[in-house]
Amino acid sequence: MAVKLLSTQTAALETAGSSMILSVSPDGILECLYWGSRIHRAEDFLGETSDCQTVNVDNLQKVREECSSYGSKHFRETSMKIRFADGTDDFRYTVQMMTVGTDPNELEVVLQDIHFPVTVHLYYRVYEEADVIEKWRKIENGGKDPVHLERFFSGEFTLPGEGYQSINYNGRWAKEFHMYSEPVDSGAKVYESFYGLTGHNTNPIFIIHQDAREDHGEVWYGALEWSGNFKTIVEPVNTGFLSVMTGISDSNAAVTLHEGESFTTPPVYAGYAQNGFGEMTRKMHRFADDILAPAEKRKEALPVLYNSWYATTFDVSAGAQIQLAEKAAELGVELFVVDDGWFVGRKDDTAGLGDWSVDLEKFPKGLRELTDRVHALGMKFGLWIEPEMVNCISSLYQKHPDWVYHYQSRRILEQRHQYELNMSDPEVVDYLTDTFDCLLSENDIDYIKWDMNRYQAERGTDTYCPEKWERFEIDNTYGIYRLIQRLREKHPEVEFEACASGGGRVDYGALRWFDEYWPSDNSDPIDRLAIQEAYSFLYPIRYMRAWYTQDEGMNHRLVPMDFSMHVAMTGALGIGIDLNRISEKEEKDLAGYIREYKQIRDTVQLGDLYRLSSFRNSPVQALEYVSRDRKDAVLFAFCLHERYGEELHTVRLSGLDPDKPYAFEIDGKRIAKTGEYLMKRGIDLRLRGDYASALVKIHADDH
Ligand code: DGJ
Repeated sequence: MAVKLLSTQTAALETAGSSMILSVSPDGILECLYWGSRIHRAEDFLGETSDCQTVNVDNLQKVREECSSYGSKHFRETSMKIRFADGTDDFRYTVQMMTVGTDPNELEVVLQDIHFPVTVHLYYRVYEEADVIEKWRKIENGGKDPVHLERFFSGEFTLPGEGYQSINYNGRWAKEFHMYSEPVDSGAKVYESFYGLTGHNTNPIFIIHQDAREDHGEVWYGALEWSGNFKTIVEPVNTGFLSVMTGISDSNAAVTLHEGESFTTPPVYAGYAQNGFGEMTRKMHRFADDILAPAEKRKEALPVLYNSWYATTFDVSAGAQIQLAEKAAELGVELFVVDDGWFVGRKDDTAGLGDWSVDLEKFPKGLRELTDRVHALGMKFGLWIEPEMVNCISSLYQKHPDWVYHYQSRRILEQRHQYELNMSDPEVVDYLTDTFDCLLSENDIDYIKWDMNRYQAERGTDTYCPEKWERFEIDNTYGIYRLIQRLREKHPEVEFEACASGGGRVDYGALRWFDEYWPSDNSDPIDRLAIQEAYSFLYPIRYMRAWYTQDEGMNHRLVPMDFSMHVAMTGALGIGIDLNRISEKEEKDLAGYIREYKQIRDTVQLGDLYRLSSFRNSPVQALEYVSRDRKDAVLFAFCLHERYGEELHTVRLSGLDPDKPYAFEIDGKRIAKTGEYLMKRGIDLRLRGDYASALVKIHADDH
């Protein structure tokens, strides 16, 4: 059983490989006695407390709490702060009940304030096979007086002892997922977004370890289902434990609850891996793909896409797009996407956002001419939109200047010449639902690239209403979810990609609603290897669009086609080059790679990922994907420069069936070996010169 009540005051949450033991301490505090590798006799914890016995320190500093709240001698960060009507701001509770829900995988613990009629419900859901525990909270005001929530995180986690490291990112546009692992030995470490969306800098995940590696060491991790401002705090508490808490950021959001009102936080999904980052990755990829992803498209590999953005930028026209589509179809592309620039007034980025009707100067016969041709060529058709934005030069803004966030006393700050619609306003969301429902109903559209290209700067409207304004950050994100939910309901066949100036919206909130992410505008293959590697720690490969582009791009270098293509083929392949500017030979080669990708894509997108080696500590970066039935595997290896004449590199595989015979080809030579051999002895690969790469397709050798 996934949730076990050991007594009225103690519960064990058990997944296939982990246990979390919760209990009420002698002082009435809900605490976490244990979180780690699976304990088979949870009863051994009965009667224990997490109090670490440190001398001369008040109890609340010592207990590994599940729901710490500001005040009450918490001289550290806490996961909640509630201000009651008389100004009291410490929530002191008694545990009212601990019950298993009607679903045996759910536990609810109710905390009741000792004086005010306010309750906090802590919910837990166990995903036994996926090894994930979900936590979320509901705060309820049962009294007449209003209550002010000043911090309302989703979950808190504690780990005993010290010497932990925390992994997160310090990135920016075109440098997303720039990963660091840092010791958390003193002071609180805060990972936070102030951008109004997840952003390119840090990410709403946590990964905690003690010198773990790819295939060994314990790792505790989690991901918040939220696409707005978040805050994660990792703090070593001086009485001997590490506290990790995460939720919607309280830096610029609060919630007022009137009589009978409640607020439910978004969930956080947490897990534990005994054998390093690789195990963590495979567990969370499966969980995301099998359980969280939108059901309509779950377990379906994504089609090979062509996007015309780099070829034409805003200079879009029916004729030129049809020409590109014809070339793309010849290469074997399955989804043809027109990016920015197709709608009225959109000659560059100064105008047009908000007016979502086709520009008849560019498409005199409407979109139909192009969509019909694309479909006749046997491809799906996709279109770019940026629903949350308007340019000030747009009819929508002229008609509804009050729909964008602004302060009455100031000029609106622009980013990329655009303003942000108030998505917390139901009227705006209704309008956008109708607009895009109409666009999707009137045109034959199979895919939408949903972009978002500015950070929030001013969250105001014509009239100041404190209770509304303090929730803008929260309600704006829920408005976005509402819009995509409605569009998905009305058009379940459409595939949605989340993009925000590249990877600004890669998070588990978007994962719930979108089918894929655009992780970065940076398609330089060397940078991409680093970005994609760090992305892959907790985000699934099927969601990772990776384009082949071939120009001097970001880093003023040209990388050979096979290296660049191989990098793009480690994700959900896309092509982003100008097809009018490539030679016949390049066309032929490209078509060959696309054919090859179609043979391996199920294994790449839906299989298990093994990061065999990384440029972070090896001259070779090797990635292996293994199908879930372990019958197929794909190995990619990359070497930037041959050095010291060392061209031969041995790569040991993982995840195969040791007893199974496998076969593969290298340099036209067929080799057959057992899984055991391949995992223990490995494969020798020749990676010669600069920018060398290899792709090896391995199959169970059943004959
Ligand atoms: C930013 C995106 O990241 C790009 O891929 C492209 O869609 C542009 N916006 C279009 O304006």
